[in-house]
Formats: sequence, structure tokens, C-alpha cells
Amino acid sequence: MIKQAIIPLAGLGTRLLPLTSVFAKELLPINGKPGIEYILDECINAGIKEVIFIISKKKLMIKNYFYNDKFYKDIIKKKKDQRIIKEYKKILKYKKMIKFVFQEKPLGTGDAVLKTKKFIKDKYFLMLLPDDLIMKSNCSKSMISIHKKYNSSVMASMKVNKKDVSRWGIYNIKKNIDKNNFIIKNVVEKPSIKSAPSKNAVIGRYILPKTIFKKLSKLKPGSGKEIHITDAIQSLIDENYRFIGHNFNGKYLDCGTMKGYINSTLEIAKI
Ligand code: UTP
Repeated sequence: MIKQAIIPLAGLGTRLLPLTSVFAKELLPINGKPGIEYILDECINAGIKEVIFIISKKKLMIKNYFYNDKFYKDIIKKKKDQRIIKEYKKILKYKKMIKFVFQEKPLGTGDAVLKTKKFIKDKYFLMLLPDDLIMKSNCSKSMISIHKKYNSSVMASMKVNKKDVSRWGIYNIKKNIDKNNFIIKNVVEKPSIKSAPSKNAVIGRYILPKTIFKKLSKLKPGSGKEIHITDAIQSLIDENYRFIGHNFNGKYLDCGTMKGYINSTLEIAKI
């Protein structure tokens, strides 16, 4: 069973400047609710019991959001507002399941993942990238059932436009399992349009094996001088670890760019 999830939150969020110069993008409201709460709800509904947030000093605001008990208690004492009581109970529920670890410098997603090494208990864990919202269908839940069926690692995927390939990890298919699930042959981080092996992009949901930590600790910085989780995944694939690409059913919203962030509020308002 997959019971633990990790969420890297220590990036700089440069694509959402100037908002991110003083604010954590994961707390920005999307249709009135912080983006990170959609991600936590997805975890809870997928049966996750513990979530590890990887933050930095600059992102302490995220911890404060969940640890503001005195503020809520004082307000609730003065104003017996049912809405506030309900919101506080929700925050408490989230807080109970979150652990925080720190990444001092934004050296890449792979380095962020490595910070969770000593907290991961089981053979596999879930990772969610909070810029990627998937609505209408619980992507993590369907990936967990694929993982159970095939006892392997799984990554969410979708086809993207050729002109956009350099924004994603792009993979080649070794073998089709069925209409929506594929065994991955190789994966490259943000390839150029020319060198991209396909239009199959990895979206921010991963079921990863604990063995990935061994690879991460040996990894040298790759493109953009960052340590990429994709490079560690490729070295596991090279050792015949099976990774399945899972084309999910839900609606994908990219909240990491200004245009995408604005659009995500409009789309969620329609649901
Ligand atoms: P991205 O590189 O896509 O986003 O990282 P970013 O760094 O937040 O924002 P931009 O690109 O500057 O606009 C994907 C995820 O990995 C986390 C980010 O917080 C984001 O959720 N991350 C990235 C880390 O936790 N640590 C890092 O060193 C890099």
C-alpha cells in the first residue's frame, strides 16, 4: 500500500514573478482555495496518510499557514463564526498529516526528493508536483491502482504539442500495456524540439521506489546545473526497473505559469 506522499515546494517560482517575490505560489488562491489544498485533498482521497513537504526558509509561510492555531482560537473565541470554525478544522486535519523537511538551496527536484530519504518507510511512495492540478478525476488514486496491479513505478502522462516539449520530461514507449498505460523505454528532462523522443510528457505525479535515493545521492547536476529526478528515473530504467506511463483521465491545469494560473481559476469555477 502507498501511504506516504512527498511534495517539493522549495523552488523559486520565477515564472509567477512578481507574485512569488514575497508569496508562496502554492498558497495563491485558485477559485478561493490555496492551490496546495487541492493537492492535499487529492492525497487524502487516494488513501495517503502522511505527506512530507519539502520547503525552504523562503517558503516558511507555508508552514505558518498550517501552524496558526493561536490566531484561529482567539478569533473563534471572539466570533463564533461557523465558517471560520469549519476552515480551522480543515487546517487541523491537514496539519496532522504533514511533516516538513528543508532544502536549503534550490538545487533541483532530485535534490529536493533526497531530503526526504530518512522519512520514507515503505518500498514505494507518491510524489506530487503542486504546479500540476488534475481535476475531475483523482490521478493519484488511479496511479495507485495501476501500481498495485503491476507492482511497478508509475508516472502520470499526457500527449503535449510538439512545440511545448521542452517544458516537460518526455518519454519513449517500450511497450503498450493497454490504451492508457505504457512501459517506458527512456525519459529525458526538457529536451529541445529537435531532440525530443516523442510528445509523451510526464506530468507531476510519480510513484517512485525507495531505491531511487541511492541513485539520487550519486547523481551529478544535469541540464540547467540542477539535479533532476528524471535523471535518477532513467538510471533505474537502465537497470531494468519498470516504469509505467499512465495517461490519466482528469482535466490538467498548469498553475506554474501566469497564464496557466489565471486560467486554472476560470476552469475550476466551471466545475
Ligand atoms: P519547477 O522548477 O518546475 O518550478 O519545479 P519552480 O522552481 O517552483 O518555479 P520556476 O520554474 O522558477 O517558475 C517543480 C517543483 O519542484 C520544486 C518546486 O517548488 C516545484 O514544486 N522544487 C524545484 C524544489 O522543491 N526544489 C528545487 O530545487 C527545485
